[in-house]
Amino acid sequence: MPGNLASGGVLITGGAGFIGGHLARHLAAKHTKVLVVDDLRVEPMISPEGTGKFREKAVLDLTAADLDGIDLVYHLASHKNVPRSFRQPLDYLDNVDSGRHLLALCAITGVRRVIVGSTCEVYGQATLPTVESTPLSPRSPYAASKVALEMLARAHQRSAGGTEVGIVRFFNVYGPGERPDALVPRLCANLLLRNELPVEGTGEQRRDLTYITDVVRKLDGLAGSDFAPVVNLGSGRSYSVNEIVEILRTVTPKAEVAHKSGRTNEISEFRAATAVQERLLGDTAPTVDITEGVGKTLAWWATRDLDDITRRLLTEEESD
Ligand SMILES: NC(=O)c1ccc[n+]([C@@H]2O[C@H](COP(=O)([O-])OP(=O)(O)OC[C@H]3O[C@@H](n4cnc5c(N)ncnc54)[C@H](O)[C@@H]3O)[C@@H](O)[C@H]2O)c1
Repeated sequence: MPGNLASGGVLITGGAGFIGGHLARHLAAKHTKVLVVDDLRVEPMISPEGTGKFREKAVLDLTAADLDGIDLVYHLASHKNVPRSFRQPLDYLDNVDSGRHLLALCAITGVRRVIVGSTCEVYGQATLPTVESTPLSPRSPYAASKVALEMLARAHQRSAGGTEVGIVRFFNVYGPGERPDALVPRLCANLLLRNELPVEGTGEQRRDLTYITDVVRKLDGLAGSDFAPVVNLGSGRSYSVNEIVEILRTVTPKAEVAHKSGRTNEISEFRAATAVQERLLGDTAPTVDITEGVGKTLAWWATRDLDDITRRLLTEEESD
């Protein structure tokens, strides 16, 4: 065990975003020295205030001076919308180039561990539950950009002097603060604004969902765990879109289901194999189950004003 690296300085790229913001607030509350870097290319749902020291900067503009005193890096900055990546694939090259730049800086400055955020989308339509050694088979420009990022990370795993470079493959993370281009917040926002639950395709597509606080706990745990080159961060359980819709309909039974066309190259199911995660982190059972987590997410959306929900939905729907 390397000792908890979060006791030194921690850099979180993309720390004004959904996962990075929650992680930054969690670490800052534990008095960890947190540096958040984000260029706010997407408007935050929750202000980055209270997340530690905030630097508005693109990853590509980071210099060695920015990493002074940093022991641990969570690289979470990314373009991440799958449908948009088919329309604007060139934007996604930045996921690769920023990763290349950051990994080189970490090696030069002697960062002890880098945790690189990837996605289950790199697997494509894979055998279930999906183990980390599964051949990668991306089905979108977004997923392809993450495969390229992972390959760079692996090159650094082999060559970087003392820097440990680990890859985490997030499955679906949900909770307050996620933009409504993702499944659960899209359902919540549409429910509140239009009394409508949009379902793309049959609704039988299944996702491995983990509530944000459980993901943050695992990310924090990885700062002190044994090293693994790649780990799935999923729950090992999948839920269909229709099942999520039913959870929301227990709260608002009169909500209408609005059927939409399916997505290009959509994967029918993601479900993580969790043995590596369990070896590194011990008991990884969810502390927030799906009904509670969806309820908490809806309750958070209900605290926002309707104008903001409208604006967000219009913005996300234009780009999604
Ligand atoms: N949320 C999920 O369910 C999920 C699932 C799989 C993978 N992931 C991965 O987890 C990571 C975090 O996801 P998220 O949901 O928090 O995304 P998010 O979009 O909420 O946050 C990403 C943040 O990165 C910033 N950013 C993007 N590129 C940047 C750059 N080059 N320089 C500086 N800032 C930049 C954006 O402004 C944004 O605030 C990403 O790598 C994403 O691919 C998330």
